[in-house]
Amino acid sequence: MTARPARTPAPPVVDVVAASLRDELAAARARRGIDGGAVRVLDVGGGSGAWAVPLAEQGCEVTVVDSSANALAVLRSRARDAGVAAAVHALQADVDALATVTDGLHADLVLGHGLLEYVDDPAAAVRSLAAATAPGGLLSLLVAGRYAAVLARVVSGRVGDARRMLSDPAGRWGPADQLLRRLDTAELTALVDAEESLTLERVQGHRVLADLIPEAMADAGTPADVAALEELASTTPPLRDLASRIHVLARRV
Ligand SMILES: C[S@@+](CC[C@H](N)C(=O)[O-])C[C@H]1O[C@@H](n2cnc3c(N)ncnc32)[C@H](O)[C@@H]1O
Repeated sequence: MTARPARTPAPPVVDVVAASLRDELAAARARRGIDGGAVRVLDVGGGSGAWAVPLAEQGCEVTVVDSSANALAVLRSRARDAGVAAAVHALQADVDALATVTDGLHADLVLGHGLLEYVDDPAAAVRSLAAATAPGGLLSLLVAGRYAAVLARVVSGRVGDARRMLSDPAGRWGPADQLLRRLDTAELTALVDAEESLTLERVQGHRVLADLIPEAMADAGTPADVAALEELASTTPPLRDLASRIHVLARRV
């Protein structure tokens, strides 16, 4: 059998959201001081732990609130496998009941990643997330971007869906769309601006260009080149606004 030529590995994907969260953990540790205990994270709609488990591995005490019992079961098993079960607390509840189930928790870092697309009232959800953030703490919101979804439909030949997503106020392609909404940058920042207790700190696109680099292109650039490009594109409109997910960071005053 002839050996296949080795494929050039794809450049590593640069995750500007994870990088921002790492920076914030360092700042939160500094705020807490040596004897201040672990950084407290609240991950609402945290699902099976894609963000929660890595944060626990970085030494955080993480509470995950999610309405799905199945997702929380996967989270528990993932946390066990990663050896961080003691640092991950799973609570089954809707974001509407956040204050009740978290019993007055004020977290250093609150995540609402992939949540606002599903809730009945995104403004009320942002209000609950802000209320659960400690003064000086950070709220991180990551939401499906409307324009990336339009482009994705066009390149897969679903032009009708693309037109409906662009004209529908909620960015949906129809009643069977699983998401209740997709947001653009202005809509997401308006939700933060409406909350008096929050100050908008950063707006960026999650995975703007790095994923577009063809896998087999040996001269696509060094990982450092790709990282530098992605970092720049993530905060440069209009590229930023075309990212598949829009990310905002807001400080609780
Ligand atoms: C797309 S997943 C996001 C999971 C994870 N945060 C991530 O970014 O990978 C959305 C999660 O939100 C949960 N969810 C949806 N509506 C919710 C609500 N009203 N209150 C709490 N969780 C909700 C779902 O059960 C699901 O686990």
